Amino acid sequence: MSRINSQLFQQKVTTADVAAGFIEPGTNVGFSGFTGSGYPKAVPVALAERIKAAHEAGDEFQIGVFTGASTAPELDGALAEAGGIAMRSPYQSDPALRGRINAGETDYVDLHLSHSGPVVASGVFGPLDTAVIEVSAITADGQLVPSSSVGNNVRWIEAARQIILEVNHWQSADLEGMHDIKDLPALPPHRRPILITHPADRIGFTTMRINPERVVAVVETDAPDRNTPFKPLDDESRQIAGHLLDFLAHEVKLGRIPKSLLPLQSGVGNIANAVLAGLLEGPFEHLTSFTEVIQDGMVDLLDSGKMTVASATAFSLSPTYAEKLNADAKRYRELIVLRPQDVSNHPEVIRRLGVIACNGLIEADIYGNVNSTHIMGSRMQNGLGGSGDFTRNAFISCFVTPSLAKGGAISSIVPMVSHVDHNEHDVQVIITEQGLADLRGLAPRKRAQLIIDHCCHPTYRPMLQEYFDRSVATAKAQHTPVDLATAFDWHVRFNQTGSMLPG
Ligand code: COA
Repeated sequence: MSRINSQLFQQKVTTADVAAGFIEPGTNVGFSGFTGSGYPKAVPVALAERIKAAHEAGDEFQIGVFTGASTAPELDGALAEAGGIAMRSPYQSDPALRGRINAGETDYVDLHLSHSGPVVASGVFGPLDTAVIEVSAITADGQLVPSSSVGNNVRWIEAARQIILEVNHWQSADLEGMHDIKDLPALPPHRRPILITHPADRIGFTTMRINPERVVAVVETDAPDRNTPFKPLDDESRQIAGHLLDFLAHEVKLGRIPKSLLPLQSGVGNIANAVLAGLLEGPFEHLTSFTEVIQDGMVDLLDSGKMTVASATAFSLSPTYAEKLNADAKRYRELIVLRPQDVSNHPEVIRRLGVIACNGLIEADIYGNVNSTHIMGSRMQNGLGGSGDFTRNAFISCFVTPSLAKGGAISSIVPMVSHVDHNEHDVQVIITEQGLADLRGLAPRKRAQLIIDHCCHPTYRPMLQEYFDRSVATAKAQHTPVDLATAFDWHVRFNQTGSMLPG
């Protein structure tokens, strides 16, 4: 079956090399792509080759790269290795790019994902020159059927001077009908309510509208989305999931949330995926999800019938699950709604639905401040992603993490976080394999004791207790006792010796 059903677009079919030739040095490019799905597979690789050739000839060639979220080696990896990215926003997780960012060679603007489209559209970064968007098909009347992510695609299509399309035959043709594409929230003062009152609500079209005159090239591809498989479930992640399930069951018993819970949001990464696996074995039925990415664990929940609908902006699936989704897209499109990230992550809708948010973290401190992004305060890991959109606006905001990292050389629970992404006012529940700290309604000192007792690993617990006791003594009767002189001793020791533990 042809995927390009419009004559107008057929005439523009060309090679990735020719398409990449439209992108000029020093310009901003908005690519599709969100957590390893729906990113263009061919044009960025061809562009990277062009950039390499320019550098070998002694010419400067770098661009600004905007996406929905993280992509894959064919986009962030290829362009970073070529030294082609001057500026990157709003989220990444690529090892080569991470290296450039941390070396100070690429500027990285780590943005809330719900802010990223409007910020670019408002011109903060200068004009968006080119949009490079993967789609699964072009309809006879010239509309675009999105592929496995929507992300910021509509924003980029609206804003860009010129548009390059990749039509990927690997994506299932049956994805058509899964998407809900709304005219995007306007910039202030013209914003209107987003009328979603249930995760299954559809308020837009199934395709993206486009002005064909701005399309300069169409490239056909046949390549899979690439995402790293999740780590296998271990005892630790099962324990974390178990604590969360007990907590939710308790909330139901107290009548604070319904038996079917509230719409769930589950963050990126292995631990968040493990929590979903825990729900599969848990007692809850008729679950729904209003989230950003659909991971393997959520597909299992939908398959089991325990979850009735999942709303997101993208898939973030292991290769096996991506194939499974593709093979059965006709069935899944009845269960899944993919929306622009302006909508999937919109504070208004998250707050109205009363989402239960669950995200991973790098480290948390005794007062409940959370660092999601920086190792030892300085080194960028991935980025904030949508964790802030959901945490700030959730009805219940949870963070999950193993209590130790790097074989025990690092405690995820520290005296003071070395970087703050989510502050003590937004973080409600912290869960490690050791236990759960429900921080709601507690003053800082009570929060601290709960986190020390329930979340910290026993290896570090006496040290953390000693720090807290010393802070209380040092700060006398102050509200949030901190010993400024030693608050970062653990981080400093790690940098000096490779372990937060004393030798
Ligand atoms: N110090 C140093 N490294 C740490 C660390 C710490 N305190 N905590 C975690 N890490 C490292 C792990 O060792 C692991 O490294 P590896 O890949 O070399 O093995 C890596 O971070 C991932 O950790 P893992 O324990 O497997 O958890 P995860 O896959 O669940 O990821 C985050 C955790 C925080 C990195 C991830 O959740 C993230 O990027 N969050 C920010 C974005 C976000 O929350 N998005 C959700 C929006 S919907």
